[in-house]
Formats: sequence, C-alpha cells, structure tokens
Amino acid sequence: MAEYRTRTIVLKFGGSVLTDTERYGQAVHEIYRWSRAGWRVVAVVSALAGETDALIDQVDQLVPDADPWTRAAWLGQGESRSASLLGLLLDRSGIPARVLAPGAIGLVDTGNLGTGCRLRIDPTLIKRGLDADGVVVVPGFIAIDQEGRSVTLGRGGSDTTAVLIAGAIRADKCRLIKDVDGLYESDPSKDTAPPPARFRRAHYTDALATDGTIIQHESVRLAQSLGVSIELGRINGRSPSVIGAEHAQLDQRPDSPHRLRVAICGLGTVGGGVVGALSTMPGLFEIVGGASRSPAKHEALRDVVGTLTHDPVSLTRGDADVIVELIGGVEVPYEVVCAALRNGKHVVTANKALIAEHGHELKQIAELHGAKLLFAASVGGSLPVLERLTSLRPESITGVLNGTSQFVLNAIARGERFEDAVLQAQRLGYAESDPSRDLDGRDALDKLRVIALQLGWDHAKCASPNCNPKLFEPGSGFVRQIARLTRDDARVEIESVESDSGYRDLNDSENLVTIRCTDQNSVVLRGRGAGRWATTVSVVGDLLELSRAATEVNLPSREGVCDAAVAR
Ligand code: HSE
Repeated sequence: MAEYRTRTIVLKFGGSVLTDTERYGQAVHEIYRWSRAGWRVVAVVSALAGETDALIDQVDQLVPDADPWTRAAWLGQGESRSASLLGLLLDRSGIPARVLAPGAIGLVDTGNLGTGCRLRIDPTLIKRGLDADGVVVVPGFIAIDQEGRSVTLGRGGSDTTAVLIAGAIRADKCRLIKDVDGLYESDPSKDTAPPPARFRRAHYTDALATDGTIIQHESVRLAQSLGVSIELGRINGRSPSVIGAEHAQLDQRPDSPHRLRVAICGLGTVGGGVVGALSTMPGLFEIVGGASRSPAKHEALRDVVGTLTHDPVSLTRGDADVIVELIGGVEVPYEVVCAALRNGKHVVTANKALIAEHGHELKQIAELHGAKLLFAASVGGSLPVLERLTSLRPESITGVLNGTSQFVLNAIARGERFEDAVLQAQRLGYAESDPSRDLDGRDALDKLRVIALQLGWDHAKCASPNCNPKLFEPGSGFVRQIARLTRDDARVEIESVESDSGYRDLNDSENLVTIRCTDQNSVVLRGRGAGRWATTVSVVGDLLELSRAATEVNLPSREGVCDAAVAR
C-alpha cells in the first residue's frame, strides 16, 4: 500500500491561540488544513490560556514548598488536559489521531548543561503514531528527568518540545501558531512609531535579539543547534516568518487575512456546525447572512448571522463573498448556486446530489464568472477523498461511501431493529432528509458521480442502484454497501465481505475508500463519513482555502520586502 502522506509538519498551538475551549476548534481546522493536503501532523499543545497560572496558584496555596518534581507533575496537568481535549475534538470531526501521554515521547532533561543540549527525545512512538493515524497530539512543556520524575521546560516550553520533535523526526516543517502573524523586531501590540518591522526571514540571532515574548529563546537556541527552521505565524497563515540560518529579510506586509464575508444557506445539522466554527475565527470570517426554511426556529442565531431570511437566493444578491450551500435536495440549491456564481460569488457546498446532477454545468458557470465552486464535503465527510485524487492517477475507487447504511448495518448486526436504527441515524445527523437515498445506494452513487466529475470521467448517466433495504436484516451475515467506480462503470451493491477486508470492523458512520492507482499502488482512507462535525470540518476546510486564496490576491506587490541589512 502506498503512503499518500509523505511530508510531515510539527504544529505548535500556544495558550495565545487556545484561549477557551470553543477555540480549540481552530486547532482542529488548522490540523485538517495540512492533513487534507497530504501532510502528516504532529500537534504540540500548551495548556489552555490561564490554566498554568491557575495551577501555580493552587499548588502554592496547597503546598507552597512542594518539591520541584511533584510541582512539575501538577503543572503538567494543563498540557495533558489540553492534548486530550484536542484529541476528543479531532475524534468528533472524524480525523484519525492519537494522543500521546506525557512521557511517551521520552523527552528527558538530563540536566547536563555543560555538554550542549541537555534534552533528548525518543521519537519511536511519534513515528509509529504518524504511520498508523497520520496525526499525533503531544502535550508540550513537560519532560522527565533521568529518574522518571516530571520536570517543566519553563515558560513557552512547548515551543521547545515542538522544535525537539521536529529535529528528531526530521520534519519538513515546524510551525508555531501564535496570535501574531510573524516575528517582529519588537512587540507589535505596543503602540510605537514607526511600528516595528516584521521579519519575512530572521536569522536565529535576530530572534534571540527580540525580547522573547513572541518566541522562547531556549527554543531558538535549540533550533539552531539542531539545524531546524522555525515558521511562526497565525492560524491559516499564508506567509509566516521563517527563523533559520539564512540572513534576515524584513517585510513591510503583514500576513493579515482578507476577511471573507460568508452567507450560509441551510442552518440545520451541518449549517449550525459551520456557523459555530466560523464564529470562533472572527479574524478570518464575517457571517453576513443565514437562510432557513423556518427562520423563526433559528432566532437565537440572529445576532451571529446578521440577516436571517427564508429566501436563500436573496443572499446571493447581498454583500457576501462566499455562499455556503447546505440546504439539501437539488432544485432550490441549483437555483441558489447558479445565482451566486453568476453574481461572481464563490460557493462551498456539501451537496453531492447537486454536484452529481449539475456539477459539470456549475463548474462552467463558475469559470465564466471568475468564481470558485468547492465541494470537498460532498464525498466522505472528513475523508479527503476528492483532495487526494488530484495528486494520484486512479484506476478504480472502491469502498463504503455511505455512513447511514454503515450505521444501520452495524446496528442490525448487534440485534437492533431496522426501523430503530434508521431513526437513530437520522437523530445523529447522518441520514439524508430522505433516508431511502442512503439505504438504496443513490447517495453513494451520487458520490461516485462527483468523484468521476473530479477525475474528468464521464458518468453523467448511471443506472440506479438497487440496494434493497430488505437485505438489511439480521442473519444477513457480514454485508456492506459497497460502491465501485472505474472509467467505464459506477455501481453500488450490497456485498458480503471477507473478515480480512477491512470492511468488517468499520464502526458507526465510518467510510472506507480504496483508491487503486495505475501504478498498482493503493491508497486507503478511513474515517467518519457523515454527521455534523465530520462535514463541518470539510466545509470549513474549503472556506479556509478560499480565505488563503483571497489573502494572496489582496497582497500588495513585492515592493515591501527588503534585506534587513539595507533597511537598518
Ligand atoms: N447521508 C450521508 C451518509 C451523509 O450517510 O453518508 C454524508 O454524505
């Protein structure tokens, strides 16, 4: 089997980003940004903002003279809890990840200051986790000493953890995500005239000459000794500062995002998730409207979405840059998406029936009006199926592409009633508004047609599948709804599966997709294919992509960049 993720990034999320539990979602979206682009991700986390201070206060009151190791073990709770919370949210979004326990990376502080680096690390479990899951979450800041007792790495110590890991696994990138867009000569939040310049590139010595508030000096020294370059920037950043061995270059242009105005049509299961996610990123997105068949039901959202209407087409005439279509069905979405694209607005949709039916035409309209049509969420929830296809030469795509049928089959295998299982799938937000589309295979066939569109294969007309729901009965053995696509054929059938096929142990709403390539290698993707959070992360992934593209377009010319030596 081919490993489709060949590059590795270490991302470090500090307390300045993880300011409250709501905002952990930002870290999920940043991780997904890289993972869907084919990167393996090690996420190093600090404690939630303020938590370390609270833990210090508590221990000082409880045992003011606690021994340093016990005190460190107490403080490490903050990072540990933070890593578990991020792990839970990744799980909720269907992004396979493993959370390593403190100590699992063998980060040992030898205390041996005389001989250069006093820290060492054993990356075995990180590498194993990356091979197995693609994403590994590591609590920063905490190490152990040679006796196995806890020690801390000091304020900003998670930066050090990230740099050490990047060096040990020879990561392709090490990016520290902060609440600033890069490294500045002095604190940019202080009102100085002229404002401090931002480094496009900084030599290690330049970073060491800053006051250490943006980046911890110890981590810079460590990076220099390990030959690791550090990127420093914001969530969804386009051009972070790079700290490394090259001479400095200043950049007058901040990496500030072009804030996208977004209107959301459909405020149901996924729409609600998208509203929540965008609200935690006010620097990147402004929600300028929401449409629902029954606006009165969503009155509580009025403050968040601004305009609340029952008429989605009216939002395509407003000031939104992007229309997110999450209405369901085909007729109304077709009208909305056509209107939006004709008005030059970008569209993000999760609607596979719409794209299967009209994708070709909609892509042409988009091109004609200089708009973008993105639909990653229409296939496989958080599985980056469509994203992967662009870098492969597929010969066939086979798999379970419908979460509802998957859920129902598992429930029946456990002895539950068919009707109850369908109701439960609806309650969990997996099923389509008409669940018979899930059960009889039409939903999966739509997804095959979207994949075909992406590949430029002509599958405009396909025979309707006939996955008779009656087959979903106890005693049917191990059966799965399997979708198959080749250049000449698209079909969805109920099939018995072998115990070693990987299909048997799929749980809940999981999808499993095998992309077989012309070089005979296969890429296997597995994860949650349906539900609020899996679909939300994919829709937001498209929106973040649009935000990066808009920021790029809005960047002024390269005139602002100059060598630091010249500028000074
Ligand atoms: N109804 C779909 C499913 C939702 O169950 O897979 C995700 O496309």
